Amino acid sequence: MIFLGIETSCDETSVAVYDSSFGVKSSVISSQIKIHAHYGGVVPEIASRNHALKIESVFNEAITKADIAVKDIDAVGVTRAPGLIGALFVGVSFAKGLSYALKIPLIPVNHLTAHLISAEITHPGLKPPYTGLIISGGHSHIYQVDKAYNFRLFSHTVDDAAGEAFDKVAKMMGLPYPGGPAIEKLSQEGNPDAVDFPVAMKHQNNISFSGLKTAVMNSFNKKDENITEADIAASFQNTLVNTLINKSRRALNHFESDKLVISGGVACNEYLRKKFREDFKDSCNIYFPSKYLCTDNGDMIAYAAHKFMRLRKFLDITGTAKDNESNINTI
Ligand code: KG4
Ligand code: ZN
Repeated sequence: MIFLGIETSCDETSVAVYDSSFGVKSSVISSQIKIHAHYGGVVPEIASRNHALKIESVFNEAITKADIAVKDIDAVGVTRAPGLIGALFVGVSFAKGLSYALKIPLIPVNHLTAHLISAEITHPGLKPPYTGLIISGGHSHIYQVDKAYNFRLFSHTVDDAAGEAFDKVAKMMGLPYPGGPAIEKLSQEGNPDAVDFPVAMKHQNNISFSGLKTAVMNSFNKKDENITEADIAASFQNTLVNTLINKSRRALNHFESDKLVISGGVACNEYLRKKFREDFKDSCNIYFPSKYLCTDNGDMIAYAAHKFMRLRKFLDITGTAKDNESNINTI
C-alpha cells in the first residue's frame, strides 16, 4: 500500500511517500528556517502563509520523485497536533481535499508519536516496548511505548523545552537562530566542566530548564576573564544533557526497560548522542533516528499512518486520545 505523509506543524513543509512493502520512496522538505532566522524565532502567521504557498509544489515533487501517479496513493496521513494551529490547518485541509477527491482514508497523526516511532525507519529491527525521549523546540517528553503502540506519558518539561532552552541561551549570547547547532559548534572550543550549573528537580520525574537558563545568563553577565563564552556554552550543553540522562534513567528504571529511543531536533546534537551512548552502554540499547528524521519530516507521518491505520490508533486535535481508542495516558 502507498501512504502519503504530510507535515506542516511548525516551520517545515514536508511530504513523503511510504510504500508498505518497500519503505520510504520519496521525501521532500521545504524549510522556512532562513525566513524565521531574521526574527530570531518562528513567527506563526508567516509560517502558515509559507505552508500555504509551498504545499502544492512540495506534494508534486514528492509524487514525481516516488515515480507514482496521484491515483496510486492508498491513504493519506497528516500531522493533526501538536503544533501551530494555522500551520496545522494548511496540512490538514490539503490532506482532507486529497482524501475526499481520491476516496481514500485520512489518518490523523500525533506529531510526538510520529517523532518517536521514526526510529523504526532507521532501525528496522526495533520494536516496542521501548522508552522514548522526545526533545524538540516545543517538547521535552518521556513516554513508555507498549507492544500495541500505547503511549504512556512519564514526564515532561514544566517550563522550557530542551530546544527552546538552546534557542534562548543562543539568543542571549548573540548567536543565530536556531540556537542548538550554534551552541553545539561553539561548545567544541569550550570546557564542559568549566562552570558547575545545577541540574534542576533531580529527584522528580518532570524536567525544568528555566533555572539553568538563568544561571547561564548570570554567568554570561559576570564576564569572568577565566571563563570563555565557549566554556559557558559547553557547560550549559553538558548540564542540559546530564538533566536528560537523569530523567531517562528514572523512566528506564520505572518501566524496567532496556531500550531507549531519542528523537526530535535536539537529538541531532553529537555531544548528546555520545554522552547517552557512553552513559547507558552497560544498561540499555540507545536508538537515534537518522539526523534527517530527527527534525520535522513527512516520512515519520507516512510511517505512523501506515502503522496506525492497521492498529486504528487515532488522536483528536488536542493530542488527547478518545475513550477506547486511547493511546496516550498520563501516569
Ligand atoms: O524537532 P524540531 O526540528 O522542531 C520542532 O518540532 O520543534 O526541533 C527544533 C529544535 C530547535 O530548538 C533547535 O535549536 C534544536 O531543535 N536543534 C538542536 C540541534 N539541531 C537542532 N539542538 C541542539 N543541538 C543541535 N545540533
Ligand atoms: Zn517536531
